[in-house]
Amino acid sequence: MPNAVITGTGFYVPEKVVTNEALKEYYDTSHEWIVERSGIEQRYFASLGVGPSDLALPASQAALNEAGISAQDLDLIIFATLSPECWFPGSGCFLHRLLGLDTTPALDIRMQCSGFIYGLSIAEQYIKTGKYKHILVVGAEVQSTSIDFSNEGRTVGVLFGDGAGAVVVSASEENRGIRSTHLHTQGEHIEKLWVPEPSSRKSPKVSPDLKGLYPIMNGREVFKHAVQRMKEGILEAMQAEGWSPEEVNLFITHQANLRISMAVAEWLEQPIDRFYNNIQRYGNTTAASIPICLAEAWRTEKIKKGDKIILAAFGSGFTWASAALIW
Ligand code: UT7
Repeated sequence: MPNAVITGTGFYVPEKVVTNEALKEYYDTSHEWIVERSGIEQRYFASLGVGPSDLALPASQAALNEAGISAQDLDLIIFATLSPECWFPGSGCFLHRLLGLDTTPALDIRMQCSGFIYGLSIAEQYIKTGKYKHILVVGAEVQSTSIDFSNEGRTVGVLFGDGAGAVVVSASEENRGIRSTHLHTQGEHIEKLWVPEPSSRKSPKVSPDLKGLYPIMNGREVFKHAVQRMKEGILEAMQAEGWSPEEVNLFITHQANLRISMAVAEWLEQPIDRFYNNIQRYGNTTAASIPICLAEAWRTEKIKKGDKIILAAFGSGFTWASAALIW
């Protein structure tokens, strides 16, 4: 059975930096409140007209370059996003066209903040069964066009940012790569974090006040579940591999809130610097957050060849997922 190894990483964020101070134009908020409650200091917003596939293109090109392959060598694209260009087709088809591909399959998935690890898990199966050799897994979001910029939206609106991350997963005989992935969903909590429209239960699909297009979140409930489920996910991945927390070189948790990562680190009795965090600079980029962390940690040498890495994510659905990797 071949191993599924991440051979290339890449990330891209749009040029426009949006500081906490800048959000005061829309919200009754402060830099201090946002930093204290979430750790976020700034995020990036895409220009109007830019979709997640546009952000995914440079991230994917960087991942392909690092892997030493061209887009034509890909056997599959897996694209995770909750903010696609349109109702259909998915962003994977848009990226496919931007990459100049002919008939390579593109598979769109959602799964929100857990989307990247779900995608990695799908790639892992296709590689380990021998069906495919090179798969591009992308997480990309343009969330700035789904933010409620009226004061009603301030709790959620200060959290999100735009960006993209990508990895190439390749078949390899080397004894490393994705060791295991662990996926969970609990639909009973859908309404605690969701965007209810456009909805095919309605005609027209959007209510006249357009409020259904904005995320609705019960922040405190989501926070509690996020800490609990990411703990469980980390434990599940470590147990599957027989790794102790001390043996793991780096933990990468979905960047939802710095306080969530800190609570998970404290429970594991590990110093916070063993967790890679960049939410301070990017905000919550949903499906893009883990691949952005991976690409950045690799470039800044926080990850080295042979390192044991645990990934964990939690998000709307509720969904949660974890993975154990040897880099
Ligand atoms: O990626 C998917 C997963 N998402 C998450 O994991 C997010 C989980 N939740 C959270 O991160 C936190 O719940 C938030 C950061 C969203 C909010 O932090 P909190 O400590 O739970 O604050 P809160 O919603 O309980 O609000 C506390 C106070 C309220 O005022 P009162 O009622 O105490 O007077 C809010 O009205 O802060 C007020 N508030 C704000 N103040 C300034 C809410 N939003 C803001 C704001 N600026 N942007």
